[in-house]
Amino acid sequence: MSRYFLTTAIDYANGEPHIGHAYEKIGADVIARYRRMLGDDVHFLIGMDEHGQKVEQTAAQQGIEPQALVDTLAETFSAMWRRLDISYDQFIRTTDAMHRAGVQALIERIIERNPDDFYEKAYEGWYCVGCEAFKQDAEIIDGKCVLHPTRMLEWVEERNWFFRLSKYTPFLRTLLTERAEFLQPESRRNEMLALIDRGLEDISASRSRLAWGIPFPKPLSSGERQTTYVWFDALPNYLTATGFPGQSGHAHWPAQLHVVGKDITRFHTIIWPAMLQAAELPLPERVWGHGFVFFGGERFSKSAGVRLDVDEAISRHGADAFRYFLLREVPFDGDGSFTWERFDDRYNADLANSWGNLVSRVIAMVEKYRERIVPAGERDKSDVSDARDIEAYHSVMNGSRGFLLHEALQYAMSCVGRGNEFVQASKPWTLAKGTDDDSRRALDNVLSSLVRQLARQAVLLAPFMPTKAQTVWTQIGGRGAVSEQRFAQLASLDAAGWKVTKGAALFPKEAPQTPTM
Ligand code: MSP
Repeated sequence: MSRYFLTTAIDYANGEPHIGHAYEKIGADVIARYRRMLGDDVHFLIGMDEHGQKVEQTAAQQGIEPQALVDTLAETFSAMWRRLDISYDQFIRTTDAMHRAGVQALIERIIERNPDDFYEKAYEGWYCVGCEAFKQDAEIIDGKCVLHPTRMLEWVEERNWFFRLSKYTPFLRTLLTERAEFLQPESRRNEMLALIDRGLEDISASRSRLAWGIPFPKPLSSGERQTTYVWFDALPNYLTATGFPGQSGHAHWPAQLHVVGKDITRFHTIIWPAMLQAAELPLPERVWGHGFVFFGGERFSKSAGVRLDVDEAISRHGADAFRYFLLREVPFDGDGSFTWERFDDRYNADLANSWGNLVSRVIAMVEKYRERIVPAGERDKSDVSDARDIEAYHSVMNGSRGFLLHEALQYAMSCVGRGNEFVQASKPWTLAKGTDDDSRRALDNVLSSLVRQLARQAVLLAPFMPTKAQTVWTQIGGRGAVSEQRFAQLASLDAAGWKVTKGAALFPKEAPQTPTM
């Protein structure tokens, strides 16, 4: 069994979860569930980024201690992920004692192996609390950070520990050029190479005026003790989750995949590999830099003030429909928008009218014509066409181009569309009128083919809509849990003898409430 350790970004504990966070967690969850169904031994890590100025400031504004703020938000986020069926195996918090010790051990290891990599320097520059990063002139427009135009930049003058990132320029260039799969999609790789070509500057690794963080293990020559810069604290979460400097037994470094947004790809593909190289530790195998979900032309973020309640969006048509919609509508290698109209349209067209309708028709016919027992039948053209779509599905879920989840959904839904056409073309209700052996056999073939098709659809859609896929699987009489099925067995799947059970509509069509925004 291959190990598959995948991670998402850890979310800043300074506000409620929004649709951007949800999009990333859902996408990674689909990959985790997919890998489990391939038979991999998956470890799926998510968590919270709880230190830094941003969290400290939010707590101060609310008049509470940072610890109280992060404790509440860790609850809020994990409850949201449970509601969305995110099948994480581990939820890390950067305030965990194990993480604190691991970060210090990593920095000490760098100091031990590459003593020149940290040096002291007086620095001054503009700091964006939204990004938790110093900004260069090119990233500032009208005195504001381009990513956080509603926040004021802070002028910072400090003497800090610096990390010699520039030393790793040739290493990073080789990494990004020679290991094509290290960073995908391709467009992100080109962005990172352009950044390297513009020249990498050394970065501050400690902060003096920040109290809310992990103490930097080495004092300055003046004796001053500083706090670890929040990205130096956050990035190692992937490593400390494995028990570093020891082994925890469940997750094993290196990770096979980091799923992160495009705004933080450079932290994961420039700073993080340089830190690991400095510590003489293995690099993650792959990084996927997904795009943004927009709403009304704006990206979600606390500071940009774009609000759309995730709970409200989930309540509208249920968690699975929300998962489906986000991944069908927003390409996983690009950007896309959330609109209520598109959500309702897709719910009605793709889910209620197409998949839901097919499921209820097929089950009703097996019930009516064959007393609920799926007949044996010959394999037909649908098996061949589905096999083609299944192959294409795998090539975009797990191929050289990375994780094109939106395309995988299109292939799965093309099987659904074909199923509906097959019902229309084969007219089982007409065959049922015939009393001779040929009609009987023809109807057996049609019904057995249709249930096989539904079974395959349930398996292909299980990573995306785990609850609905299980409902379909149960209704058609599939054995065991749909999530326990293995893709490798899909080609030989036969539903003969299964007993169907009619259930409530898979995707009910009640009039949705008018959204508040
Ligand atoms: N705490 C850092 C990550 C540290 S990882 C070692 C952070 N947190 S965040 O809360 O701002 O963002 C968490 C993730 O959500 C990031 O990958 C970010 O790109 C993603 N998204 C935030 N807004 C988004 C959208 N509007 N759309 C899609 N994903 C976006 O960055």
